[in-house]
Amino acid sequence: MSKITIAIDGYSSTGKSTVAKQLAKHLGYVYVDSGAMYRAVTYFAMEHGLIDENHFDVEGLLDKLSEIKVSFKFNAALGFAEVYLNGVNIEKEIRTLEVSRFVSQVATVPQVRAQLVQHQKQMGAEKGVVMDGRDIGTVVFPDAELKLFMTASAETRALRRYSELLERGDDVSFEAVLKNVEERDYIDSHRKDSPLIKAKDAIEIDNSNLSLEEQFDEIKKLVNKVLHA
Ligand code: DC
Repeated sequence: MSKITIAIDGYSSTGKSTVAKQLAKHLGYVYVDSGAMYRAVTYFAMEHGLIDENHFDVEGLLDKLSEIKVSFKFNAALGFAEVYLNGVNIEKEIRTLEVSRFVSQVATVPQVRAQLVQHQKQMGAEKGVVMDGRDIGTVVFPDAELKLFMTASAETRALRRYSELLERGDDVSFEAVLKNVEERDYIDSHRKDSPLIKAKDAIEIDNSNLSLEEQFDEIKKLVNKVLHA
C-alpha cells in the first residue's frame, strides 16, 4: 500500500503530538514534531542572550541562523524521535514554560520559518510521515492526503499542559499556563507569515470531550478511508 502524508495542525496543547505519535507507530510512519524545531531555535536564541522578557534581537538571530542545525534521532525506549540542536539532545530543555513564552515570537520571523519549512519538506519528501504543527496542511504539505485540525477549549488545553508541567516537577501556576496558552493562540493565529488557520480540506476534531481512545478510533477511521479510497 503506498504511503501517504498526514498533516496535523491546531492550537497549542490540543493533543496533536499524542495522536501524531500514536498514528506514526500504528502505521510504521515517521513522526515529526515541527513545534520542537521552533522551540529549538528559541532555545538557541535564549542561550545566546538574543531574547528575554524585555527584548528580542531579531537581527542577531538572523546573523546566527546558518549556525543552527536542528535534527531528530529516534529513541527506541521512548518510541519517538528526540530533538537535537547542533548535535546536543535538548528534548527536555525545550519543553519549559520559559521556552513556551518566547517561541511564538521567534516563530513570527519569516527567515526562521523559511529555514525550518524547507527542512520539514525534505523530511516528508518520501511520504510515510505524520507531522504536527500550525502550518503543515497549509504551507508545508498543502497536498497532504489527510489533514486534521485539532481544537479544544483553552481551559481544557491549559489544564492538560499544567498537569504535564507538574508531572515534570516544574513550579508553575494554572493561571500562568492558561495565560501562555491564550497568548500563543493569539500570536500564532494573527502573525503575518503562515498564521494558524484551518486548511480548507482539513477535518476538524474537537477533543474537549473525547478520551484518547475515542479520538484515536475516530482518526484511524479517517486514515483507513484515505488509504482504501
Ligand atoms: O506545537 P508547539 O506548542 O510545541 O509549538 C511551539 C510554537 O511553535 C507554537 O506556539 C507556534 C510555533 N509553531 C509554528 O509556528 N509552526 C509550526 N509548524 C509549529 C509550531
